Amino acid sequence: MASSQPKLTAAILIISETASKDPSTDKCIPALSQVFSDLGSSNWTISTTTIIPDSIPAIQDAVLKACDQGINLIITSGGTGFAVKDVTPEAVGPLIEKQAPGLVHGMLASSLQVTPFAVMSRPVAGVRGSSLILTLPGSPKGAKENLEAVFKLLSHACLQASGGDSRQMHSGGVKKLEKEAGVGGGEKVGGHSHGHGHGHSHGHGHGCGRDHGHGGHHGPKAHTAPEDRPQQSNDPSQGPSRRYRHSPYPMLSVKDALQQIDLHTPSPTTITLPVNESLVGHVLAEDVTAPESVPAFRASIVDGYAVIAGPDAPSTKGTFPVAMISHAQAGEHQKLQPGQIARITTGAPLPPGATSVVMVEDTILVSKTDDGTEEKEVEILTSEIEVGENVREVGSDVQAGDVIMRKGEGISAIGGEFGLLASVGVKQVSVYKNPVVGVLSTGDEIVNHDREGELKRGEVRDTNRPTLLTAIRGSGFEAVDLGIVSDKPGALEQTLRDATRKADVIITSGGVSMGELDLLKPTLERQLGGSIHFGRVAMKPGKPTTFATIPVKSNDGSRIDKVVFSLPGNPASCVVTYHLFVLPALHKLAGVEPKGCARVKVQLDGDVKLDKQRDEFHRAVVKAGADGLLHAVSTGGQRSSRIGSFKGANALLCLPAGEGNIKKGEMVDALLMGKLIGDV
Ligand SMILES: *[C@@H]1O[C@H](CO)[C@@H](O)[C@H](O)[C@H]1NC(C)=O
Ligand SMILES: *[C@@H]1O[C@H](CO)[C@@H](O)[C@H](O)[C@H]1NC(C)=O
Repeated sequence: MASSQPKLTAAILIISETASKDPSTDKCIPALSQVFSDLGSSNWTISTTTIIPDSIPAIQDAVLKACDQGINLIITSGGTGFAVKDVTPEAVGPLIEKQAPGLVHGMLASSLQVTPFAVMSRPVAGVRGSSLILTLPGSPKGAKENLEAVFKLLSHACLQASGGDSRQMHSGGVKKLEKEAGVGGGEKVGGHSHGHGHGHSHGHGHGCGRDHGHGGHHGPKAHTAPEDRPQQSNDPSQGPSRRYRHSPYPMLSVKDALQQIDLHTPSPTTITLPVNESLVGHVLAEDVTAPESVPAFRASIVDGYAVIAGPDAPSTKGTFPVAMISHAQAGEHQKLQPGQIARITTGAPLPPGATSVVMVEDTILVSKTDDGTEEKEVEILTSEIEVGENVREVGSDVQAGDVIMRKGEGISAIGGEFGLLASVGVKQVSVYKNPVVGVLSTGDEIVNHDREGELKRGEVRDTNRPTLLTAIRGSGFEAVDLGIVSDKPGALEQTLRDATRKADVIITSGGVSMGELDLLKPTLERQLGGSIHFGRVAMKPGKPTTFATIPVKSNDGSRIDKVVFSLPGNPASCVVTYHLFVLPALHKLAGVEPKGCARVKVQLDGDVKLDKQRDEFHRAVVKAGADGLLHAVSTGGQRSSRIGSFKGANALLCLPAGEGNIKKGEMVDALLMGKLIGDV
């Protein structure tokens, strides 16, 4: 490397309660500055020295400030011990994006040669943005020795971290690197003179929630090829340096992903439910036959007079005594005798013996009873009354034993199915059990959306969990809030175990990108014995969508699979993938056909640009136009972090990957997520 290269910058942060009050007590700044001038004065400038008290926010502020300034090397001294006040690793650890355990090892190894007490030090090291951060012990001697132990490698590490071309730097092989760094092949620097992970890809597609500001939203890309990266593992116990740096899961097409979901989502299970309002939203698991006929008795459909008519009966024309009155109410009647009539109201049961009803318009009142309150005699003006006229026969609506609903039909809130079941006296039915869906968010940076107070640096309000909970309920299913789970491995495992007892389907969002904190997949596969059926889908947005099943023992001892979806950490992708992938699984479990959102043809009301590589699901408002067509208007920016672009969207346009635009006026497929809107 040419000596004309600009100097690397370093910041020295002394973490000491005492020195922060009285800077003259500090001996570390001179000791550390000495190392720089002795070993690398031509390469380094110390751009800042600061003394900070033992406080996590103060330490984080200072480190973040130095990172923002693009300082190449940030070293802290102090606060790495076991005393209560020692919080440096706790402050610096969360800020590190790429761990450098080799440097930690190197520092500890050198200290151990001096004193066994070195095991009591808890250093952390790693990269944030383009800065390398090291935490040294607080004693001037210890700090100096630790820094010296790794110093020769730091300029190389910092150049890489700041985005130097690693291929060019490596073109001479490891030997050349070692020579440049002034370390021989046999010289031991912490065991690994050549650490893992030379790739320095910026941003692993974290999306909004987890994007730390470098890499940007559009097209984050890795700068190394998969074959250039060391073999990695998804075993969390192997530590961060061995974790996957690229996804080991093959990229599936949307169609194949949906097929996997259909294949691995369990078939619906059957339960018996009483017929009451809670039945709405279920699908019948068997044909339902009517236990009773409707109507259950012969009833009049008009107000008038029940008579005995027919070819064998005397003419109905003439004046008759009114023998009884039948109102629409329960009760027994005596038999109507030939020559008698009965006053009857609409819906009332015909007296035994009556064949027909004459409507009141065809009659004249002849006389009243003595007290004047009731009819005594009525004249019927027609002889053309037929048997059964104006009578609703028993079972004329539904016959007992008729199949009134079929297996697979849904009980909706609008279709009158509940009323039909109720009308024939069905007391209980066999239906498919609706799935219960648990929703959790993962990430130490995630806070409840309604948490009081301003966000601390790095914190993100949880939009995905409330959004998903409402989307699930909006689809008619029960949703259980499982809260926010810390990125610590044990926490996720425990929450998922509990969740398999409460829910049939578990949706997580957040931990699906290739970050250091991506613990979901290893936890599913190793701790819970689950199977990941896919971990990447060729689509935009939603590429990191993951689908897995976890086998669990059900109450009766049989094995059932619980379904797990891990949706992208950014809110809009999360909603798209819910409708595209989760809903069909919920529908399968609930026995709903057809599964997923309804697919319709819509006409574009504006040009839409295609993505060159990936099929896109583009959020849009679809309205029913006066011309009888469905019209689609894009809801604007489709950047995956923009939940705002979802506002008002009721559909996803299904756009194939390709060059250029689909023009205004052309027809495309759309998936309807919500109610169709009329265009007024
Ligand atoms: C100083 O930088 C040059 C290249 O820029 C490198 O070869 C050399 O090893 C560095 N020296 C130290 C002590 O870091
Ligand atoms: C309806 O049935 C469900 C069982 O499916 C029961 O939990 C609920 O209490 C019932 N509701 C009423 C109003 O009876």
